[in-house]
Amino acid sequence: MKEYTIKLIPGDGIGVDVIHEGRRVLEALAEKHGGLRFRFDTLPWSCKYYLETGKMMPEDGLKILADCDSILLGAVGFPGVPDHVSLRELLLPIRVNFDEYVNLRPVKLLKGLSSPIKNEKIDFVVIRENSEGEYCGKGEFLNGGTPEEKAVQNAVFTRKGTERIIRYAFEYAKRTGRKKVMSATKSNALNYSMVFWDRIFREVRAEYPGMESSQMHIDALSGYFIMHPDRLEVVVASNLFGDILTDLGSAMLGSIGISPSANLNPEGKFPSMFEPIHGSAPDIAGKGIANPVGTLWAAAMMLEHLKLEPESALLMQALEKVLEEGKVRTPDIGGKSTTAEVTDAVIGAIMAH
Ligand code: NAI
Ligand code: MG
Repeated sequence: MKEYTIKLIPGDGIGVDVIHEGRRVLEALAEKHGGLRFRFDTLPWSCKYYLETGKMMPEDGLKILADCDSILLGAVGFPGVPDHVSLRELLLPIRVNFDEYVNLRPVKLLKGLSSPIKNEKIDFVVIRENSEGEYCGKGEFLNGGTPEEKAVQNAVFTRKGTERIIRYAFEYAKRTGRKKVMSATKSNALNYSMVFWDRIFREVRAEYPGMESSQMHIDALSGYFIMHPDRLEVVVASNLFGDILTDLGSAMLGSIGISPSANLNPEGKFPSMFEPIHGSAPDIAGKGIANPVGTLWAAAMMLEHLKLEPESALLMQALEKVLEEGKVRTPDIGGKSTTAEVTDAVIGAIMAH
């Protein structure tokens, strides 16, 4: 019997719904396999937990998470708790302390879905720096209460952090048979951080002479995503740029509810964390209509990471089968089904395989 311990952090809003569905699908895959078991441990860390305890997670939260095989997270953030509190006291500490410095986000139009843009040849990957940069949390408020009041937000780019993410992008391209790496920059305006980023990009790319590489300013690259997605293979970006580009990428797939995200500690020293890229969607929370596809895709990425490749492939096949049939889908992608009905259909396709 193969056994894996998975820590579930449903979080807030629709995060709770989609993690419930992710668990059901993983249980179905284990049942189908026969020799596979997941031990789930569900943690209540969320904005609700914060309002009760004054903390997003307990003091020893990271210790509680440290010994699992993977973490599956829904979304955190809800009206009543400022977003910078929920993000900075739960999600970011996990990403940073577990050295999950790679945030891997596929932008691929799944079978059965249509894109709001005309060019539907969309199959690339964004590799986002996940441990520093613009999200380092450093800065200050100055001269409060005076006409000279100001806020300073710093970005920290280290050689180690920049080099390892760019190298990961080239290695990923090599490993997956891709031939092009595009770097997102803005070195015309950001004359320290992005000039440094570009310099390290040039150094690293010199080690991969067979790989086509280019760079584009983030504003131009946003337009390029819409005009020429077929020309993209691997995009490497800083924390902020990658965050913005991947919401755009997910919208190109038809809905923000579609896309997954893997927060990876490539060395395997700490657990990696998998999540849909969307937030807690307070506007549809409790309605039972959240699209579970992003979470199920994230679960498939988790299975691949756990070296359960056949189960990962089976889940993606089932997901695409349901989307291709087109009968069962949530309202954000033009259907009338509930979250649970989509999951039931995916489980049906897994079991029928
Ligand atoms: P959001 O992603 O929650 O929602 C944006 C829009 O997309 C909303 O109209 C929502 O209904 C829709 N949407 C999102 N996921 C969907 C799904 N699975 N199915 C169907 N429709 C979906 O982003 P927003 O509104 O900016 O943030 C809401 C809260 O979530 C905030 O507190 C924010 O800080 C938090 N958040 C948390 C993230 C995380 O935990 N990783 C990521 C992004 C936001
Ligand atoms: Mg985001």
